[in-house]
Amino acid sequence: QCIEMNIGLLEKGGYPHFMLKEIYEQAQAMKDCMRGRLLEQEKRVVLSAVTHHRERLLNAKRVIIVSCGTSWHAGLIGKQMIETFAKVPVEVEYASEFRYRNPVIDARDVVIAISQSGETADTLAAISLAKERGAFIFGIVNAVGSSIARITDTGTYIHVGPEIGVASTKAFTGQLTVLTMLALSLGKEKQTVSTTEYEEIVAELAVIPDKMERMLVFDKQIAELAKCYTYARNFIYLGRGYNFPVALEGALKLKEISYIHAEGYPAAEMKHGPIALVDAEMPVVVIATHHQLYEKTLSNIQEVKARKGRILAIVTEGDEVVKKLADNVIEVPATLACLSPLLTVIPLQLLAYHVAVMKGLDVDQPRNLAKSVTVE
Ligand code: G6P
Repeated sequence: QCIEMNIGLLEKGGYPHFMLKEIYEQAQAMKDCMRGRLLEQEKRVVLSAVTHHRERLLNAKRVIIVSCGTSWHAGLIGKQMIETFAKVPVEVEYASEFRYRNPVIDARDVVIAISQSGETADTLAAISLAKERGAFIFGIVNAVGSSIARITDTGTYIHVGPEIGVASTKAFTGQLTVLTMLALSLGKEKQTVSTTEYEEIVAELAVIPDKMERMLVFDKQIAELAKCYTYARNFIYLGRGYNFPVALEGALKLKEISYIHAEGYPAAEMKHGPIALVDAEMPVVVIATHHQLYEKTLSNIQEVKARKGRILAIVTEGDEVVKKLADNVIEVPATLACLSPLLTVIPLQLLAYHVAVMKGLDVDQPRNLAKSVTVE
């Protein structure tokens, strides 16, 4: 028994759970994902898929992203980046809905399929449908040689290493890294992004792993905080712009492993429903970094406070304003808006993890969930 336990610990690299190990691995995983693709000295990114299929990708009249779960959240952020830098319209679809919707697709569409496992049945079916109708399929996959990797026309592996914990963590940041590099390469080729902006993002992307490492010092603080939240039955997560999908992802992590009901909302939508739920029992997690619509998010925080909601805010390092309003703050290093999800998601992963641990739940094997959903 003792030997078995030691093997277990060894597999987890000394961490109590795979999920925690994978959260901690994110900086290294991102470096692995960018190796040979982000050329820091030359201030550019190179994706072989874009080089080899330049014409097909640049001539896309539309991009459709299909995926499920966490990969779908990464797609929502990818949409914003591709539209901003490559100026092509992007739709993000749940693979399960897309496959049965008889969607309008033709040969000028590019479909991006995002999947950690590369085996998700709905995503596979969505790809087959799009392929039949002539679309070009680009895969963003982790598992090398998986079914999705094999049926796509081209793609970019995220190369973050095996992800064992059912709740996806490092695959999410890996998917965002590839989507950023893809949006930048397309924008550069199409000349829809200025050289200054392009180089600024490339340089900042290169230093995100260091900033991720710095964030892990908050692990203990988050573990302490988690103790105050085990009582909660409901949570709201708010964010805007690039951080709205992070709010969805934070809520999903909490649901998956802590079994606490949580909803992610674009902060401004709060007044159209969820604000009715806010009272002293309701924790509200707000991503309020110094980016898009910061001032407006501040007023949302005030609205929650006026209703005695308990606020946990994710803020940019040095923010003094939110500190005065929120019950607790977690600071993330300053970065560009489009790259901020790579940092803001980390405290939310840690929060879900610690709440689940405090509640004595099985973090790596949550009830009713599977790592790879190969059936409908
Ligand atoms: C399952 C997993 C999630 C994952 C989703 C999509 O629900 O539990 O963590 O995000 O499937 O999986 P994929 O492998 O296609 O990214």
